[in-house]
Amino acid sequence: MRTPLIIGNWKMHATISEARALATGVRDGAKRLGDVEVVLCPPFTALAAVSEVLAGGPVGLGAQNCHYESSGAHTGEISPTMLVDLGVRTVLLGHSERRRDQGETDDLINRKVRAGLAHGVTPVLCVGETDEERRQGLTFTTVEGQLRAGLAGVPAEAVAGIVLAYEPVWAIGTGVNATPIQAVEVHGYLRGLLSELASKEIAQGVRILYGGSVKPDNTDALIAQAEIDGALVGGASLNAQSFVAIVEHAARASGGLKGD
Ligand code: PGA
Repeated sequence: MRTPLIIGNWKMHATISEARALATGVRDGAKRLGDVEVVLCPPFTALAAVSEVLAGGPVGLGAQNCHYESSGAHTGEISPTMLVDLGVRTVLLGHSERRRDQGETDDLINRKVRAGLAHGVTPVLCVGETDEERRQGLTFTTVEGQLRAGLAGVPAEAVAGIVLAYEPVWAIGTGVNATPIQAVEVHGYLRGLLSELASKEIAQGVRILYGGSVKPDNTDALIAQAEIDGALVGGASLNAQSFVAIVEHAARASGGLKGD
């Protein structure tokens, strides 16, 4: 059994005071977590404040990106060592917005994945096809390329330390989520590839999240699928009530909220 994981990706939203309020809302609302892991990924500027709010509780702290070196002459970058120092244990890597806006390549993302693993920060490797790639029947080719390149040089046993997120680009921020059937076929394909790259046993333990317009009202249908191990939530994570509602749906699906 893989523990469901719900991650909130706040993207470039929330000042420090807004972040404190949002994190407090999630912390207090998600007290009855049940068997679900929850991680918040605020912007870098709010990591320290959110770290304080979440300290000692079950909600984890994640970052939205990191550099692949521990330190060095890289103006404007943040290293995994700095993230660990702030209490960060999870990092989103290869998000399609960074692939598109910052021109992040598979090779760069691979370096970051290996750096995360080396520093004990769980990489959440994001893969997904564009609208055009899906129309051209290139969905599997695209995600396979991103997965193989993203995990290049990662030893089989280290693959157990990653999380995968399937995020079809056409579903991100559009309000059009992938159907459970569409998500499941890609998740199954990715798990097959993980078996090949690591082992069947390791692949069975890796969580594969779905991301793209996840909201409280579509969580049940997605999470009900055995192949969908949680969600990477953007827009709906900016409101504590809707994010907590998503967590509660996942908790129910995994065996009940505490106190039910
Ligand atoms: P969305 O974003 O939930 O707003 O579609 C998901 C993501 O980009 O991780």
